[in-house]
Amino acid sequence: MAALQQLSPVFPIGSRINDQGHLEVGGCDALDLAAEFGTPAYVVAEDDLRVRARQFKDAFAAHTGDYEVVFASKAFPCTAVMRVFAEEGLGCDVASAGELALALQAGFPGERIHLHGNAKSLDELRVARAANVRHVVIDNIDEIARLEQVVREDAGPPQPVSIRVTPGVRGDTHDKISTGQTDSKFGLTGADVQNAIERIEGSDQLELEGVHMHIGSQLLALAPFREAVEAIAELPKFREVNLGGGLGVAYTREQEPPRIADYVQTKVSAVREVFGDGVRVVDEPGRALVANSTVTLYTVQSVKTNVSTYVAVDGGMSDNLRPMLYGARYEAHAAAQPATGGVPCKLVGKHCESGDVIVEDAHLPDPKVGDVIVTPATGGYGFAMANTYNGIPRAPVVFASGGDARVVVRRERPEELFARDV
Ligand SMILES: Cc1ncc(COP(=O)(O)O)c(C=O)c1O
Repeated sequence: MAALQQLSPVFPIGSRINDQGHLEVGGCDALDLAAEFGTPAYVVAEDDLRVRARQFKDAFAAHTGDYEVVFASKAFPCTAVMRVFAEEGLGCDVASAGELALALQAGFPGERIHLHGNAKSLDELRVARAANVRHVVIDNIDEIARLEQVVREDAGPPQPVSIRVTPGVRGDTHDKISTGQTDSKFGLTGADVQNAIERIEGSDQLELEGVHMHIGSQLLALAPFREAVEAIAELPKFREVNLGGGLGVAYTREQEPPRIADYVQTKVSAVREVFGDGVRVVDEPGRALVANSTVTLYTVQSVKTNVSTYVAVDGGMSDNLRPMLYGARYEAHAAAQPATGGVPCKLVGKHCESGDVIVEDAHLPDPKVGDVIVTPATGGYGFAMANTYNGIPRAPVVFASGGDARVVVRRERPEELFARDV
């Protein structure tokens, strides 16, 4: 396991500048990785994933014996990443039949999988049932009858469920990833909460075991997590309270997210104060488990100066959509010289959109064609939202650990772009 050193909190645990002055991730020189696997490529420090999984578990274990840490697989839906978390004993949150298939392929047993979704289809519910998932998280009144139908079809035991409620608490984050406010497409609000509880408690097919909420993502303050638990104090005491995810991460070195230990302590103490003992505390971190584990490597294809200096690389919005979706900020570094400072420039992608800007305010030392550029903190929702816009085959995922690197997802081939044609 890597020592807990980091180049900065933005980079993976175990990263450093090596004797050649190059970035090293998982004991591997980033320039060697670029030469061996090509660019763009996602490089994951495998040990980083394990360290953070253990940090979450240890933080919970310090406060309670009755907890579950569940990886929100949407953040990095790659079987190799999910397999690490399955091995580390985490549960898995899936939001579709596709993510469920990935979770099973990664080795999660059904009883550690929680099915989410605000528009689950009959088929998705059938597949979840067949997989014997731990909980179907009921998001709306309409799916109750659908799930009852599925249980009647297979004539098995009642399906354990929890209900997702919207606590009416808004954390400070981007509108597009805020979910705790009352005006949200997720979860039950107002009279629907009580209706759902009565409806499920009266059902022979469903067994109500818990309540769930997820107030939003990339939250850098802890107070809203406590307020959200206080906001549901009037609900009956359930066997399980699932508090979703939401812990923010550092994308740039100015950002200072709360420590995992403080986040966990806030959530557990809020549940204990509001609901007392005998309630299992479940948490569903996504981004905080994976974002900083990963860097993306690119190669510069052109440098042009007009009003600004544009450093154009061989990837962009196809491998990292977040800057375009949310105006998300990242850092850019030269892999051969990963220090701060240099020429002010825009790191741009190769796609046919002016908005395809990966880092608006980069500083790179004398950028030139052929340089390998690294953007850290791309493990959360990067690979997850990868697409093939402009016919760009999707980038590979490379695991680096202890000086060895291996491809866990190979680069997509151009002929796969028409593999589904009929
Ligand atoms: C239900 C649910 N749980 C957990 C998460 C993970 O959130 P984060 O990546 O912010 O930890 C999400 C993210 O959208 C979610 O919708």
